[in-house]
Amino acid sequence: MSIDRLRAHWGLSRTPFTKELATSMLFASAAHQEAVARVDWIISERSLGVVCGEVGAGKTVAARAATSNLDSSRYSIIYLPNPAVGARGIYTQIVTALGATPRFYRATLIPQATDLLAAETAERGKTVVLILDEAHLLSAEQLEELRMLTNSEMDSRATFACLLLGQPTLRRKLRQGVFAALDQRIALRSTIDGMDRKETGEYIAHHIKLAGRSDTIFSDDAVTLIHDAARGLPRAVNNLATQTLIAGYAANKSICDESSARAALAEITAE
Ligand SMILES: Nc1ncnc2c1ncn2[C@@H]1O[C@H](COP(=O)(O)OP(=O)(O)OP(=O)(O)O)[C@@H](O)[C@H]1O
Ligand SMILES: [Mg+2]
Repeated sequence: MSIDRLRAHWGLSRTPFTKELATSMLFASAAHQEAVARVDWIISERSLGVVCGEVGAGKTVAARAATSNLDSSRYSIIYLPNPAVGARGIYTQIVTALGATPRFYRATLIPQATDLLAAETAERGKTVVLILDEAHLLSAEQLEELRMLTNSEMDSRATFACLLLGQPTLRRKLRQGVFAALDQRIALRSTIDGMDRKETGEYIAHHIKLAGRSDTIFSDDAVTLIHDAARGLPRAVNNLATQTLIAGYAANKSICDESSARAALAEITAE
């Protein structure tokens, strides 16, 4: 099956449900808007915040949306996509992101990172926004590093904002005794929940519209099936909706109906 034929069948000028959406084209679900507002707050307060959510709930997208409009002359965004970078990783990446060469020894690397962070604010008048994605994968050592970093920086005069994004296990991890000191510094916690049924319908329609069609392609019962199976989580909705388009095309349907959605579900659960 070619993607061109699929698009032609559904009368779409672009492929729907792709990941590469410009922030201006994102769907403004309640959960998304709330998460963006909270990230904005963390940034403006220069505090430490945690955003949790299940796989594909929209954590990374929300953080991207909140930071994409920041004025680069006033903010330095340091985005660490994956903590699996070793124990020296966090400091090394901060130093590199701020344009310096990381010092080799930990004992000098740590002050180098904190000095550079402080200098961004003191000398360049910038707020550093440190975003650690997939933070549920942070090791105990890395959480300890983070504690030290926030220790020196966040108590008296906050010089940077720090945002942890991760799966729900992150929250539990942070509550464990060892990390209590870090946990106490968290000024804001938030969770991105799945969309409700109504929003899932609007979300699907939004993506279809972006792909070039403004009338209805998905029947109500197809949307309900997709919503329930995906629990309103955007990435799962994307995958199921795409499979439904394919199933409807294969059966030469003019609408994505319940049987197309069922076929899509069977396809995905069979994987
Ligand atoms: N507000 C939105 N508007 C449009 N699409 C969205 C929105 N939020 C999420 N999506 C879609 O859902 C996908 C998953 O979102 P995202 O990558 O932010 O999830 P995540 O919570 O970071 O998942 P993971 O735990 O796997 O990192 C995105 O690639 C995007 O296609
Ligand atoms: Mg993510």
